[in-house]
Amino acid sequence: PAPTPGFPLPTEHTQEAFDPASDFTSKWTRADASQIMAQSDTTVAPGQNSMSPDVTMPEIPEDFPTMNEDVWVWDTWSLTDEHANQISYKGYDVIFSLVADRHAGYNFDQRHWNARIGFFFRKTNADPAKDKWNYGGHLFVDGSSIGNTEWSGSTRLMQGNHVNVFYTATTFHDVAERNAGGGGIAPDAAIAKALGNIHANEERVWFDGFEHTKLLEPDGEMYQTKEQNPGFAFRDPFTFADPAHPGKTFMVFEGNTGGNRGEYQCTEEDLGYREGDANAESLDEVNSSGAYYQTGNVGLAVADNKDLTKWSFLPPILSANCVNDQTERPQIFIQNEDGKNKYYLYTISHQFTYAAGMRGPDGVYGFVGDGVRSDYQPVNNSGLALGSPTDLNLPANNPSGTISGQQNGRQFQAYSHYVQPNGLVQSFIDNVNGVRGGSLSPTVKINFKNGITQVDRSFGQNGLGPFGYLPTNVKVGGEGLY
Ligand code: FRU
Repeated sequence: PAPTPGFPLPTEHTQEAFDPASDFTSKWTRADASQIMAQSDTTVAPGQNSMSPDVTMPEIPEDFPTMNEDVWVWDTWSLTDEHANQISYKGYDVIFSLVADRHAGYNFDQRHWNARIGFFFRKTNADPAKDKWNYGGHLFVDGSSIGNTEWSGSTRLMQGNHVNVFYTATTFHDVAERNAGGGGIAPDAAIAKALGNIHANEERVWFDGFEHTKLLEPDGEMYQTKEQNPGFAFRDPFTFADPAHPGKTFMVFEGNTGGNRGEYQCTEEDLGYREGDANAESLDEVNSSGAYYQTGNVGLAVADNKDLTKWSFLPPILSANCVNDQTERPQIFIQNEDGKNKYYLYTISHQFTYAAGMRGPDGVYGFVGDGVRSDYQPVNNSGLALGSPTDLNLPANNPSGTISGQQNGRQFQAYSHYVQPNGLVQSFIDNVNGVRGGSLSPTVKINFKNGITQVDRSFGQNGLGPFGYLPTNVKVGGEGLY
């Protein structure tokens, strides 16, 4: 696209791949992220959506169905293999969701402090528009997981009927805080896994035999600890195999740059302006704005053994220093484009975690390169792949508050977008014009190639597919593939 007057040009990224063990960290720069505003329409009526329809999630109706009457449902993932294929097991589709009791006296925004991993199943040949997901209950026996709260992760089918559940073991120390929904002693966070078994018969799917192992805690060098910042993030493990490095298993996760909160200083690379760009900010300007408080990254780790019980940290593959504080639920999606494997890194982020001077919607962001570690090119030049309808000319409202003023009532309609095979994107409903969610969104579809993404509005009804549509693409019978 032609440059927008008044905005800096995005950083030049080569997409070149580096050894996963090397210390090259790609930057999502201020120059890149400022393309979000450069591409936003300044002339829309207040409260409309100012972003291109190509990067805007279609509007979710206010009268969306409730997926389950007993539990709120948010972050969700499928049973997969190491290539992010979604597995039908003995004729069932199986999904895992963070869940919290709807009737325990706390509200939807207090879900994080009460989160457990639950699971749902339905027959693979069910009609996704009509047949409900059956709730199977909590995945782990009460009190058996590491930590006292279970946050997001991913689940892989291993040999036979073994499954590995990678999850975030969050430990809150302060009961009052749990009940009040935050503000107390910072929680501990570890990445953990549980190895167990999946079973299925004519009636249902169930799990047993989970053995839990703690895998990783932040090191304070590459990945920030809670001592360094009570608001740190260390969570959301997603494991995968890389065809370029056969025999290895990698994990991406959400982290923050190591070091004490407030000590980081933005660098020229974090800004990423081209030489002589008349619209560039100066380093002093950016540092005096306090933008250095925002230090999100996407971490990488490699398994040291076949059982996936021992892992080593590698340097982050992406940093958002001085751009955004949270790059959550990262995933690697490998797609063959014209005979070449392209690596898409997708990660979700919020309006309220942007650094001073930066602005973008809640949604999913994407980056493409030639390897797991590469000089990632942000999709659409900005990084934004799919945002909730938002008027970026107006300030964001409080994420969990009622929508007030002129802002688009769908700015927090959905979150925790997860890109599935064929570009199907699932997410959960948060707030549609003040109607709170806690249920899965209609699945939407994005087409992406050459670093350009586009919402497919011919999919479903005006771009909205079935609610909670997480179809499987590989069938496994328990004894192997069929
Ligand atoms: C995203 C998220 C994840 C975390 C979970 C906690 O919605 O913030 O990063 O694991 O929610 O509820």
